[in-house]
Amino acid sequence: MTKPTGLKLVERDAGGVDLAFRADVLAGLAEPHKAVPARWFYDDAGSQLFEDITLLPEYYPTRAETEILTNRATEIAGLIGPGRAVVEFGSGSSVKTPLLLSAIGPSAYVPLDIAGDFLRASSAALAAKFPGLPVLPVEADFMRRVELPAEVAGLPKLGFFPGSTIGNMIARTATDLLRTMRATLGEGALLLIGMDLVKDEDVLLAAYDDAAGVTAAFNRNLLARINRELDGDIPLDAFAHEARWNDLFARIEMHLVARTDVTFTVSGQRFEMRAGESIHTENSHKFTKRSGQMLLAAAGWEPRARWTDAARQFSLVLAESCPPRSAP
Ligand code: AVJ
Repeated sequence: MTKPTGLKLVERDAGGVDLAFRADVLAGLAEPHKAVPARWFYDDAGSQLFEDITLLPEYYPTRAETEILTNRATEIAGLIGPGRAVVEFGSGSSVKTPLLLSAIGPSAYVPLDIAGDFLRASSAALAAKFPGLPVLPVEADFMRRVELPAEVAGLPKLGFFPGSTIGNMIARTATDLLRTMRATLGEGALLLIGMDLVKDEDVLLAAYDDAAGVTAAFNRNLLARINRELDGDIPLDAFAHEARWNDLFARIEMHLVARTDVTFTVSGQRFEMRAGESIHTENSHKFTKRSGQMLLAAAGWEPRARWTDAARQFSLVLAESCPPRSAP
């Protein structure tokens, strides 16, 4: 068994502050429509709250994707073949990653994540489940090209990007990321990517505003993280969780709406909000078969196969990295 040691690629200042986090928060709060990128939800508490979300009755994506991986394992494995290094963008979930790894028989597993402690914990759990499989976690921001561990240099790669995390990004950022993934994974790479599907608005809204309030806690945890890590004094109770369907952009949006006029400080900078104004904290784009394929194609990924769950709520797409071609 290879011990997950982990390379660190996150930049911090002398006080341990993640520089990219501070830059994103200060820039986002200074915008006329305040917004913070969704990737900052995932500190240790946020990662745990997301795990709780995946168990909610209203939150169908995890169950639907797990159903696909379970029922189509043989077919998926047949197309991917054995011996690839699996590079997961985000640390492996307790359920989906083992399903994929047992189905395909890879030669190494490389999870990439910015949440270091969560990454190391999930890597250790994974390594214990798969004795003999080299598990090589890298603490990194996968939005930039990642230098993979030397151990996997000569191996063919399979990128794994489950959960429809791609939906968190607007199209141009998603395209950038999908291209960056091609650069990280190298020639001949395959990508197995989860893409959530457009569906009934009420089903979508319930999935992002559950009765137990777990999603609300997940959303508000971002404010707690800002207060703790960026020396903020945001009053959490002054903000209400809201999920909205934006039909023009085919996405669920999460907002933190100020219940009253509110003033607060973050990293020594003062911000003011009026009652009803919001901090936009997440986009979760939903796809059709065509819109999903267009997005992949724009970034140089050609679809090889596509699966959905029985209720057609969610899709899993296998795509192959294609070098640029001038001919049609
Ligand atoms: C992890 C990005 C796929 O958009 O469904 C869940 C995150 N946000 N509930 C999603 C999330 C609110 C989730 N992704």
